[in-house]
Amino acid sequence: MTLDRMAPLEPVIGVIGTGYLGTTHAACLAELGYDVVAQDQSPERVARLAAGELPFYEPALAELVRRHTASGRLRFTHDVADLAAVADVHFQCVGTPQAGEGMAADTSQVFAAAEGLAACLERDALIVGKSTVPVGTTEALVAAVTRRAAPGIDVEVAWNPEFLREGHAVDDTLRPDRLVLGVSSAEAEKILRQVYVDVIRDGAAVVVTDPATAELVKVAANAFLATKITFANLMGELCEAAGADVTTLAESIGLDPRIGHQFLGAGLGFGGGCLPKDLRALIARADELGVGHARRLLGVVDEVNESQRTRTVETAVELCGGSVAGVRIAALGAAFKPGTDDVRDSPSLAVAARLRDLGATVTVYDPHANDNARAAEPDLCFAATAQDACRDASLVVLLPEWEELVRLDPGELSAYVAVPRMLDARNALDPQRWQLAGWEHRGFGRSSDRAQPSAGSRVSEMELMQ
Ligand code: UGA
Repeated sequence: MTLDRMAPLEPVIGVIGTGYLGTTHAACLAELGYDVVAQDQSPERVARLAAGELPFYEPALAELVRRHTASGRLRFTHDVADLAAVADVHFQCVGTPQAGEGMAADTSQVFAAAEGLAACLERDALIVGKSTVPVGTTEALVAAVTRRAAPGIDVEVAWNPEFLREGHAVDDTLRPDRLVLGVSSAEAEKILRQVYVDVIRDGAAVVVTDPATAELVKVAANAFLATKITFANLMGELCEAAGADVTTLAESIGLDPRIGHQFLGAGLGFGGGCLPKDLRALIARADELGVGHARRLLGVVDEVNESQRTRTVETAVELCGGSVAGVRIAALGAAFKPGTDDVRDSPSLAVAARLRDLGATVTVYDPHANDNARAAEPDLCFAATAQDACRDASLVVLLPEWEELVRLDPGELSAYVAVPRMLDARNALDPQRWQLAGWEHRGFGRSSDRAQPSAGSRVSEMELMQ
C-alpha cells in the first residue's frame, strides 16, 4: 500500500467514535484549524454533540465543541460514509473494553469501525488508530481493511496512541509531552507531522516508530503508572507496620528526578476506564506471547491494587468498632478520581457499595459524579452537599481528593456529624489540622495517626461526664 497520491496541504480530518477520546480529539483538531467530521453510531449522541452538549463532564471541552460546531469546522454524523466522502485522515477513537470474563481487551469495535470505513472509501486514506489496543492489532487491521477496500484504493493503517488524562483532556491533547507515530511509510509520517504541525512547534517531542512499538508504548505507559502506584501502596503497608510515614517517604524518594513525585500517592489505588483494563489486557497479551515475568509482575500489581479497596473497607469497619451494621457513613466522592464524573471501575464507589453491603447507611456526595454513581449503585443514598452527606454520620470517608472536599473545614463539619471520625483514603488531608479540630483521623501508612485517642472513646468519655 502506498499513499503517495495523497498528501493534501490541509487534510480534512475524520474521527470515528465520540467518547472521551474521540470528542476531545475532534474538538482539538478543529481548534488547530482543521475541518473535522466526527462519527458515532449513536444518533442520539450525535444530536447532543451537534447541539454542543457533552454526554460527560470534562473541563474546557464543552466550550471547545460549542465554539467549533458554531464555526462550522466541527461536524458530527452517525454515518461513516460521510467521513469516507470527505476526509483524508481518519482517526480511530472507539473503545476497547475488557472482554467479558477474561482479562483481554475486546477489539471488536476497532475492527468493525475500520472495516466499515474501508468498505465506503472512494479515495486513498490513512487510518490512524488512537485507541489502546493489544500489540499486533495494526498488523491484523491492515489485512482486514485491505480485504474490505475497493480495488485501486490505497489504505494505510498507522498507530498514534493517546496519553490524555480525564480531567485534563483538552490541555493534554493540545500540549502533549510527546507524539508517538507508529507508521509503515514515510508518507504516513509526513501526513501526521503535518496534522500536528502546531503541536510539534509548541514543543511536543516526536517519536517515529513502527506500529507495534507504538501500540506497546501506550499500554506500557499505563502499566508503569499502575506499577508506580502499587509500589507506593506496598511502601504504605510497610510504613503502617513499622510506624513510619508513607507521605514523607514518597516526598523524599520523589525528590530524586529519576523517580519523580507523581503517581506515588498511597491509598485507595487506581481505577477508571483505562489503567485497570489496560493492565489486564497487557497481562493477557503477555500470556499469549508466553512472556511469564511480565505476566507475574503485572498480575501482582493488579492484585495489590484490588486489595487496597478491601483494606479501606476493613479500616472503616475497625474504626467503627468491628462492625458497620446500622452505622451512618458519609462517602465523600464517587468518581474514580477528581476532575471527572466517570465512575467506571471507581475504587470510591466500590468502597461505598461494600460498606452498604455490610449494613451501613451510606450517603454519597460527589461534586460532579452523583448522577453516574446513582445510575450504577441506585441503592446508595445521595446528598447535594458534603455537609448533607455528613449529617449524623459516625464515620466520614474521603474517597477521591476533589479540591472542594480537601478544603472542607473540619471545625465547621464537626457540627454536622455524630462522631468526628475521618478515614482519609487518599492521604489528602492534613492529619494535624483535623486532629486539632477534635477529629480522629486515619490515613494510610501515616505515623501521625498513631497514638491519638479514638473519636469514639472521646465521645464515650464525654457521655460519661454528662
Ligand atoms: C490514564 C493515564 O494517566 C493517561 O496517560 C492515559 O491516556 C489514560 O489513562 C488512558 O489510557 O486513556 P486516567 O485514566 O484519566 O489517565 O487517570 P489517571 O490520572 O492516570 O489516574 C488513574 C487512577 O490512578 C485514578 O484512580 C487515580 O486516583 C489513581 N492514582 C493516581 C493513585 O491512586 N495514586 C496516584 O498517585 C495517582
